[in-house]
Amino acid sequence: MRAVVCEAWGGPEMLVVKDLASPQPKPGELLIKTRAAGVNFPDVLIIQKKYQVQPELPFIPGAEVSGDVLAVGDGVTAFAIGDRVAALCSVGGFAEEVVVEAAKCVKIPKTLSYDIAAAFMLAYGTSWHAVRDRAALQPHETMLVLGAAGGVGLAAVEIGKAIGAKIVAAASSDEKCEICRAHGADEVINYSSEDLREGIKRTCGRGPDVIYDPVGGKYTEAAFRSIGWRGRHVIIGFAAGDIPAIPLNLPLLKGASLVGVFWGEFARREPQNNIKGMAEMLAWMGEGKIQPLISKTYSLDEVPQALMAMAARKVTGKIVVRP
Ligand SMILES: NC(=O)c1ccc[n+]([C@@H]2O[C@H](COP(=O)([O-])OP(=O)(O)OC[C@H]3O[C@@H](n4cnc5c(N)ncnc54)[C@H](OP(=O)(O)O)[C@@H]3O)[C@@H](O)[C@H]2O)c1
Repeated sequence: MRAVVCEAWGGPEMLVVKDLASPQPKPGELLIKTRAAGVNFPDVLIIQKKYQVQPELPFIPGAEVSGDVLAVGDGVTAFAIGDRVAALCSVGGFAEEVVVEAAKCVKIPKTLSYDIAAAFMLAYGTSWHAVRDRAALQPHETMLVLGAAGGVGLAAVEIGKAIGAKIVAAASSDEKCEICRAHGADEVINYSSEDLREGIKRTCGRGPDVIYDPVGGKYTEAAFRSIGWRGRHVIIGFAAGDIPAIPLNLPLLKGASLVGVFWGEFARREPQNNIKGMAEMLAWMGEGKIQPLISKTYSLDEVPQALMAMAARKVTGKIVVRP
């Protein structure tokens, strides 16, 4: 089978495509023929040894896939050969075949495309846990989403709208802002052309109740200084590179909270709550309330370009690899 291999720590240009032997499922595992693999910002970090999970070299990046079950390991009763599944593999996804623990796989309905199934779990799972569970966003509240046209950002926009809240989307170009509007944002701030704090004043009145922050860097403190009374600033990640430090008088003055989110750990420790989130979102998808955007697809050979586009801030919504 063909696979994208990280043989040395470094940028996407260091990745190589190789022919490898097909992996074999051990007890409790499934062998999946990969139809699509979701691309996520952690894929950019993990190959540079900058992510919290650091696999041993060589490894195949790619954290989530959809596809068809090719073989089942001993003891697996919930799946059969030919089942359509989505799976969280953490690594191994950018390959024609991947072995995954059956406990990390779910069957997917025929109505769900392979592309959406592969792009859904990580981004929408993260944003559901952040918005619904950790921030407990309410229908009468306002949520500001930073990096709102990105993978987890656009998922947060859609989930916030499905809850019924007012959504203010902040992004770095007019084109990205328009995509956010098309996915439900009520107001937009282009933080390349408008000062973020001025934009928040213009769109959020007494300040956002929830700030969804996958960007970090200079944006975090600027946004947090504008948060509303009893606001919740949800920390998702640091796509801008710098991990910001916040003066602790700021949460004191607003009676506000800094709320951490680590979806992978949540899914591991609280699988039933994670499944509850997935079920709610699949129902929203059925009602047309959320419609994940797949903005581009790539081949295995084009994985370096896909990761470079993500690192260069050029991706909107989700992108997927079709091995
Ligand atoms: N905590 C968790 O459980 C969890 C789970 C999944 C992902 N994450 C984290 O969430 C973040 C976003 O992931 P994603 O997959 O949604 O990525 P993405 O699609 O690339 O979105 C990231 C957004 O960040 C903004 N950004 C600002 N400065 C940037 C820079 N220097 N380089 C790249 N992007 C920049 C971009 O929006 P603008 O151009 O509009 O500013 C971009 O759309 C990452 O830090 C990731 O590690 C965390």
